[in-house]
Amino acid sequence: MNKTSRMEKLNREIGLCVKCRLSITRIKPVPGEGPLDADYFIIGQGPGANEDETGRPFIGRSGKLLTELLALAGIDRSKETFITSIVKCLPTPPLNRKPRPDEIAACCDYLARQIELVGSKKIILLGDVAFRRFFPKDKFSDWRGKWRDSGGRKYFISYHPAAGIRFQKFKKILEADYKAINKLD
Ligand code: URA
Repeated sequence: MNKTSRMEKLNREIGLCVKCRLSITRIKPVPGEGPLDADYFIIGQGPGANEDETGRPFIGRSGKLLTELLALAGIDRSKETFITSIVKCLPTPPLNRKPRPDEIAACCDYLARQIELVGSKKIILLGDVAFRRFFPKDKFSDWRGKWRDSGGRKYFISYHPAAGIRFQKFKKILEADYKAINKLD
């Protein structure tokens, strides 16, 4: 089976998934999107309300900021990135809460298969939920703004763009981090 067919099959599985409680409240699952040979694989926390309605990742305000941050790094979102999240369905109630450990555990096989399939060597982790999934023993603050090698891939760690929308201070840090991404690489 070629990459496109394998991703379509995976997306169908995600579309029918009832492995956790988020499947009861979701409108649409949000598997992720981007070229299947993307240089950068980007991982958020979980879909928000806009994403839940459309089934597409990062299309709300966080998504707009993410696109701008990637442009600061010289990265073209649509051509060079595959974007998804730790969980594929909207965490609620309350709306936009962090996904719970059992929801992450139920969903993580989909993410592992996506990473394998796309094969990007560079992964950008958006925020502490994504960071903890890969580096559970480490402190987010020790790694923010840095690249880190693990298992033959490189991981760049920074805040979730939603933090930059809420607080100007985080937006400034995000901008500085993304400007430096390819200098630090
Ligand atoms: N935040 C995320 O973590 N993922 C999305 O798809 C949208 C917002």
